[in-house]
This record gives sequence, structure tokens and C-alpha cells, in this order.
Amino acid sequence: MAKPIGIFDSGLGGLTVARAVRETLPGENLVYLGDTARVPYGTRSARTVTRYARGCADRLMGFDIKLLVVACNTASGVALEALEQQLSIPVIGVIAPGASAGVRATRSGRIGVLATPGTVASGAYERAIHRENDAIRVFAQPAPLLVPLAEEGWVTGEVPTLAAKRYLQPLVKADVDTIVLGCTHYPLLSDTIHEVARELLGHEVAIVDSAEATASALRSLLEAQPEEPSGSGSLRVLVTDLPAQFRIAASRFLGAPLEGFETKAIDL
Ligand code: DGL
Repeated sequence: MAKPIGIFDSGLGGLTVARAVRETLPGENLVYLGDTARVPYGTRSARTVTRYARGCADRLMGFDIKLLVVACNTASGVALEALEQQLSIPVIGVIAPGASAGVRATRSGRIGVLATPGTVASGAYERAIHRENDAIRVFAQPAPLLVPLAEEGWVTGEVPTLAAKRYLQPLVKADVDTIVLGCTHYPLLSDTIHEVARELLGHEVAIVDSAEATASALRSLLEAQPEEPSGSGSLRVLVTDLPAQFRIAASRFLGAPLEGFETKAIDL
């Protein structure tokens, strides 16, 4: 019997990771858990995020998952080791794959990272990049307002452009040639971030989407476990709260209507 892959995030943003996984591995069955009752994680302490992450992982283990993807950058930044110790299955976070993709993309050795305050404070992107190449300079910038903008669907135009300009200033000053989108929500704003960065820097800049990088890393991991069969490409979406705009926001992050997928509100 094909076991599903478990994916969790603080809310619906991690559906950008589920989307990348579905595109890269269309045969895999996915169980997604969005902790919508307690989002955001990005402004909370490492201790609280670790506690929440443990609860999400425990719940997903009840679905007999073969592997856990921590889609939330903040949880990956502060709780990955705790989850690896807690679980008997492979656990993959979004930071190492995003960091590797950044290292591959940079030519100048100057990488910018946009992330939540929690991820920036964890220093996890710096550590992951320096594990691969300690000569690279990393400039991490918190960009918390981009989260609600993505949720509202305000991804192009005046307001997101202005927010991107403000947040990109330090990265422009540092003259980075690569920007890692270190938050589940930022892929929705990728075009705006790219345009603004290119304009302010006056040269091309590579934008690295950690969701896509994670899906590729996941494919490599599964190729190394050929004994685990894939499924029928099903998706089950569990949330800890069903907010009014749930379907609209979820479809935005998933890049497809939620219709046809099982959705359920659960308590942790
Ligand atoms: N999922 C979070 C992340 O990728 C962003 C939203 C939040 O702050 O919870 O860091």
C-alpha cells in the first residue's frame, strides 16, 4: 500500500510547497496540515514554534506517512532537529534545499535571503549556506508584511512594489546577485520581487524559490528509497481552523481550485 507524504505549515502558505511537490512528483499521495488556528509562526519564539511543530508532526504520524516535509521556513529554521529526533521517518525541511539552490545560483558569492523575523533570527539560512561554502556572504532580511499581502492576493501593483522596495534596500546595498525566497508566501510575489530587485540593483538577479528546491530534493530522497511505492496523486488538506476566506486563499497558494480534494478541520 502506498503511504502518503506528510506536509505541514503554519497555515496555507505551505500549499506553495505542496504545489511544487505535486508538479515534481504527481503520483505521490499528500496529506497537508495547515495550522491555521495558530498562524503566523514567523513572529513567535523558537520555543513556541517548536512546540507547535511537534504537535503537527505527531498528528501527521497518525496518517502512517512515509516522510515528513516541514514546509514552513520558520519551523524548519527552529525545529527541524527536534523533529528529526522525535520521528522515526525521514524529515526534510525547506531551508537546506533553498540554501543549496542559492549556492548553485550565485556567481558573486553574495546571497540575499528574504524570510520571516523568526527564520532570520534562527540564522538557519546562513548556517546551511556556510555548510556548503563558507566564503559566501549572506544578507538575511525580515520581510513580514509580504505574508499578509500574499494572503490578500496583493501580489502585483503599487502596494507590494512599495513593500518590496523597502525590504530590498539592504540587499541592494549589499549588491547581492541571488535572492532566496525563504518563506512559504513569497513565491506568490516572486515576479514583483524580481522586477523591483533588478531595477534597484541595475543588474540581473537570480530568484530562488525554496518550495521548488525542496520538491527536487524530495524527488532525490524518494529515488533513493525505491521500495516505497507512490500513490494516485491524492491530496488531503487538514486545517486547525476554517477561516472564512479559506478556499480562496488555499487555491491561490496551491495554484489550483481546492475542489475535488478532501478538506477537513481538525483539533491538534
Ligand atoms: N509559513 C511561514 C514561513 O514560511 C510564513 C507564515 C508564518 O509566519 O507563519 O516562515
